[in-house]
Amino acid sequence: MHHFQYRGNELYAEEVAVKDIVAKAGTPVYIYSHATLERHFRAMDDAFAAVPHTICYSMKANSNLAVLKTFANLGGGVDIVSGGELYRALKAGIDPKKIVYSGVGKKDDEIEYALKAGILMFNVESEEELDRINEIAGSLGTKAGIAIRVNPDVDPETHPYITTGLKKAKFGINIERSLDQYKRAAAMPHIEVIGIDCHIGSQLTKISPFVDTIRKLKRLIAGLEEAGIRLTYFDLGGGLGITYDEEAPPLPAEYGRAIVEETRDMGLHLIFEPGRNLVGNAGIMVGKCLYTKKGEEKNFVIVDAAMNDLARPSLYGSFHGVQAVCKDQDGSIVADIVGPICESGDFLAKDREMPRFRGGDLVAFMSAGAYGFAMSSNYNSRPRAAEVMVKGDTFTIIRERENRDDLIKGENIPDFLQK
Ligand code: LLP
Repeated sequence: MHHFQYRGNELYAEEVAVKDIVAKAGTPVYIYSHATLERHFRAMDDAFAAVPHTICYSMKANSNLAVLKTFANLGGGVDIVSGGELYRALKAGIDPKKIVYSGVGKKDDEIEYALKAGILMFNVESEEELDRINEIAGSLGTKAGIAIRVNPDVDPETHPYITTGLKKAKFGINIERSLDQYKRAAAMPHIEVIGIDCHIGSQLTKISPFVDTIRKLKRLIAGLEEAGIRLTYFDLGGGLGITYDEEAPPLPAEYGRAIVEETRDMGLHLIFEPGRNLVGNAGIMVGKCLYTKKGEEKNFVIVDAAMNDLARPSLYGSFHGVQAVCKDQDGSIVADIVGPICESGDFLAKDREMPRFRGGDLVAFMSAGAYGFAMSSNYNSRPRAAEVMVKGDTFTIIRERENRDDLIKGENIPDFLQK
């Protein structure tokens, strides 16, 4: 159950009619439900109530300041992957001691920025990165808290583009080589080894890959203890899936039970990096039908939202539910929903049964809160969409729609081209 429900024929976001939001904010627009964000955060947090833990929201899923502040107010931290994300997190008031920094390509200035901000730990993804962090911490006269991101070689059984914990992936340090790297790290003057980290993939619909991962990491932790290396934090990454269509992923409470059971005897402080699970079903994207047309073999519904606004269908063939904002259409059709972009890959739904939309109808794309706006671009010189947060019977534009000046911001025509 989420907070996007019909009252009569009208789709509502909490207590607000979606069409009233569109009247003010225009289309395409992303709409987030504050109550749903809170509920999802609490469900994850409560799932681990029995043990010391921190929920470090993986903010790449949706990095709007208002979303971050919602979680900060509930005691959440964040998982970041860039200096830009750190900047946003600090602006939103996230406690630096609840920030973990993942990613295979941390740059010198980003490492320095994170050290100066006093983040909890770096999730180190390579041997060279470890050296670099040690050097930079040394030059700043400080020590860097680190975990090694261990690649456990476990198959999460999800889409190949979002599988990260297999041997062939670019992520983390192979589990067989991790013990040596831990020993090296422990001997470094400007490194403080405090944790172990992994992240095996996204949109997982089973618990067993998480459990397999924990069991593998436990063997490594036993080896660390023998070597005299004691950890404080166990970061299990993110990855718990959501329902887009027919998927039936475990609920956070079930996930919590299984993980607490597997990890309790270790006595470590658990860290989780959920992204999609917190925000995916807390958001929708709404576009407007511009035209409909009958092709040779297909029906097309052409909307004013496109792959630059919601890239997931084009990129991964992902499913997003399609719903009418006002259910007053005459029957249904099977059609593709496409955007104005000049690429055949620009579709938001394919061969889908849907209401017989007409020009002017509003179309809601469901489960768009994660990796929706965050992955949007200006391709085809399209200003990025507005974002709105609803709370009860009120709503706020939390990101203005871009305008045409935003599109050319920072561009210069060189003198030699002036006539
Ligand atoms: N931690 C790390 C280190 C990650 O790389 C990710 C996601 C997460 C946590 C959060 O995973 P989640 O809980 O959201 O599954 N753009 C793709 C998803 C890419 C996921 C990248 N990493 C999509 O739209 O499906």
